[in-house]
Amino acid sequence: MCGIFGYIGKKNATEVLISGLRLLEYRGYDSAGIYVASGGIVKAVGKVSSLEAKLAENPVVGCAGIAHTRWATHGVPCEVNAHPHTEASETIFLVHNGIIENWRQLKDGLAVQGITMVGETDTEVLTKLIGSFYTGNLKQAVVAALAHVHGTYGIAVMSTKNPKEIVVARMGSPIVLGVGQHEMFISSDPSALLSHTKEVVYLDDGEIAVVTNAAYVVTSIAGESRPKVSEMMDWDASVVQKNGYAHFMLKEIHEAAEVIENTTRGRLLTESGTVKLGGLESVLGRLSTIRRLMIVGCGSAYYSGLIGRLMIEEYAGLPVEVELGSEYRYKRNFGDVHTAVLAVTQSGETADTLASVRLAKELGLLTLGIVNTVGSTISRETDAGVHNHAGPEIAVASTKAFISQLTVFVMLTVFLGRQRNMSEAQAQEILAALEALPQVLEAMLSDTTAIETVAKKYASARDIMYIGRQMHAPLAYEGSLKVKEVSYIHAEAYAGGELKHGSIAMLGPDFPVFAIAPEDAVYEKMLSNIEEVKARRAPVILLTTEGAPGAREVTDDVIYVPKVHPLLQPIVTIIPLQLFAYYIGVARGLDVDQPRNLAKSVTVE
Ligand code: UD1
Ligand code: BG6
Repeated sequence: MCGIFGYIGKKNATEVLISGLRLLEYRGYDSAGIYVASGGIVKAVGKVSSLEAKLAENPVVGCAGIAHTRWATHGVPCEVNAHPHTEASETIFLVHNGIIENWRQLKDGLAVQGITMVGETDTEVLTKLIGSFYTGNLKQAVVAALAHVHGTYGIAVMSTKNPKEIVVARMGSPIVLGVGQHEMFISSDPSALLSHTKEVVYLDDGEIAVVTNAAYVVTSIAGESRPKVSEMMDWDASVVQKNGYAHFMLKEIHEAAEVIENTTRGRLLTESGTVKLGGLESVLGRLSTIRRLMIVGCGSAYYSGLIGRLMIEEYAGLPVEVELGSEYRYKRNFGDVHTAVLAVTQSGETADTLASVRLAKELGLLTLGIVNTVGSTISRETDAGVHNHAGPEIAVASTKAFISQLTVFVMLTVFLGRQRNMSEAQAQEILAALEALPQVLEAMLSDTTAIETVAKKYASARDIMYIGRQMHAPLAYEGSLKVKEVSYIHAEAYAGGELKHGSIAMLGPDFPVFAIAPEDAVYEKMLSNIEEVKARRAPVILLTTEGAPGAREVTDDVIYVPKVHPLLQPIVTIIPLQLFAYYIGVARGLDVDQPRNLAKSVTVE
């Protein structure tokens, strides 16, 4: 969602900041703004290109500045509410991600001092609070103000009195410093730093840093020294470019084979029928004694958890529950030394998932993560976990991260299974199939015209119903989420057997049904469910495996995928669902990479 970019060095700050904002665009936003010392401030509603157009008319020139893409939470998207914010004397400039929860009280307190607001945002209140404490030392003023703040923030602040420093602070909203040669960068998202530097410093909650072109000094907000060692990101800069694809979403779907290779690299010990998950080694003993696993996640990550649950229960024999992050945090939870909570998250920053991890820690439970973003809050706060190593995902609708989450779940299933009753032979069979999977996906992705043709046929549908069973029921939920996200078509999803208990009432000739029915243990059951649908004259799109008997008799709109080991089938079957949504979104002329109302990572509640 909201994005922060900052720069201090010798280059034209406006150019650096705008290119930084462009790399943050994918996160979703509705307005943008820039402050360059001592050039001034420019803001615009809408895309970064609108901001650029305004900058072309009113250039701001300087070597340091802060910039922001805003996703409205408090106050409508408009220039006044866009960041950077400033105060009456226009000395302090600030950009902020997060939410200041006690902004009303702070605003009332400032009003008593005669300080009033021009807009509706919590961020303006924070800016003016800092201004009220400012007597020449920016860090001191920020510390004094933050002492009164409840809520979450990642902030970057500048003062016109000292354009050679940027003060940044973090509580619940990421701030990463990028270390360059006589220049420093600031971002809320490490992937936006890649084109400048791979050397990064992650701020932790409760930390503040004074950044100049040559140094960064980090302390706790309370003033204790926090020596920080920089880390090297292992991502390649090409991951934030489209590389010839029309959209990031398409590129990321086409990365599926590579993603599986990256996620499994060095981790499959097929000969011995084991997996090496280095990130779980520190908790091996505790993992072997857990009797219950609670998976938490949001959106696609939640759906991958639902599939992970079926994998682990079926093949590792461990009872698993799955809960939405937004629900887990507000329910009564149970657990003991035999319970582990596993957070699944691409960004590692989703507020509801993070709150669940913190709650589980308070309960004394073992906390684990399947997290794509190294250095993210959830990766750091969990006791142990597995990084996906899928590289940054840019399209808002998750595709490659979902594939990589399923891949981690396969490895985790073998890992937990081998600690329990899974035989070496069964593990070898699964791992050999996983090793062969990238090639299968590569071949499948070399020709996607059949999917495109079907997608175009249904692009003007008003509603679509998805059905599937067992692991393909959550896959149906994910397929319907994809189409909702990128095409805005009303879509629903049910386990095939559940449809007749209510929702079938909606079906008719204008309500197509997308049936996910690979030839597996419930194939015949799915065919019966499809017959129920056809009896209501609903058109059927059938996604099944090559050679599935009777598929062609069901419908003309059949999409075939290769048949693989049943544990891996969802990783193959998801791809046509992702592509189907993508092609429909494109056919409807929509911005598939940045759908309306959505943010890549929701760091507020
Ligand atoms: C690590 C390296 C990888 C290298 C490999 C070589 C990192 C980030 N990973 O991968 O680059 O190729 O060794 O053997 O440097 N963690 C959590 N919670 C999470 C995810 C991870 O606490 O949600 C922790 C893990 O417990 C571990 C660390 O982060 O301590 C790294 O995890 P991961 O990248 O999965 O470990 P490896 O696969 O060993
Ligand atoms: C957001 C995204 O709502 O958060 C979804 O738009 C995503 O695509 C969900 O699945 C969870 O995000 P994360 O980063 O925790 O996996």
